[in-house]
Amino acid sequence: MRLARKVAIVTGAARGIGLAIARRFAEEGACVVAADLHVEDWPAGQLTPFLHDVTDEKSWATLVDETTTLFGRLDILVNNAGIISHNTIEAETMESWQREIDVNQTAVWIGMRAVVPAMRRGGSGSIVNVSSTWGLVAVPSAIAYHASKAAVVNMSRCGAVSFAKDRIRVNALHPGLTLTEMVRAQSEEITGRVVAMTPLGRGCEPREVANGALFLASDEASFVTGTSLIVDGGYTAQ
Ligand SMILES: NC(=O)c1ccc[n+]([C@@H]2O[C@H](COP(=O)([O-])OP(=O)(O)OC[C@H]3O[C@@H](n4cnc5c(N)ncnc54)[C@H](O)[C@@H]3O)[C@@H](O)[C@H]2O)c1
Repeated sequence: MRLARKVAIVTGAARGIGLAIARRFAEEGACVVAADLHVEDWPAGQLTPFLHDVTDEKSWATLVDETTTLFGRLDILVNNAGIISHNTIEAETMESWQREIDVNQTAVWIGMRAVVPAMRRGGSGSIVNVSSTWGLVAVPSAIAYHASKAAVVNMSRCGAVSFAKDRIRVNALHPGLTLTEMVRAQSEEITGRVVAMTPLGRGCEPREVANGALFLASDEASFVTGTSLIVDGGYTAQ
């Protein structure tokens, strides 16, 4: 029970990596509020589903208020919700760029801002911001994704140095290609190319990313802040 007595919010938790993280945390004893744009028709199980748009400041205020009212405290936030469009620099549009920056980047800031007062009251906290290997290295497509996921790295460092005095740790988590709806929606050619470039020779399972999030969220990582944990089968090692 590595998260016994902890209370966690995971965003984008209706499916994919977010759902795997929420379930993994619950297995380890956490009370988990699983927030997403879509909370109907999904198997919440031991999780507490919450209708939430990460780009909406009011939605964050309600999420934090209701979590602390229900469970009495807040220890962990995983800023996981994210979207991708595969647009090159020349093909990107202002509308698509702005939406991706709003969801992947701006929401990470407003999420950290929303939870810190409750964590401070509780005396400690852990924030895990989900970036990507594509926040560290690039391909010709996905310009807005690269921009937003790279920003998450330095925003996490900024959070780490801002809130260390409050015993709130902030780290970035970088999954490699992970077998979720996001990947199933992209062209098989892109997926095949990334798998071929992955030394371990396969895509990542959502639970393997969740294990990384679990480490960063738990007290086992009590001296780990402002850093990046890469779970990518060696993709960025070359
Ligand atoms: N799958 C991968 O290969 C991969 C690799 C690296 C990083 N990531 C990152 O991991 C995270 C999860 O990815 P995934 O593959 O599980 O994606 P996914 O598309 O399968 O799931 C994303 C979830 O986020 C939710 N969401 C989207 N916009 C939202 C919003 N505005 N407010 C609240 N929820 C919203 C969706 O409803 C969905 O349930 C993302 O940040 C993604 O960029 C994924």
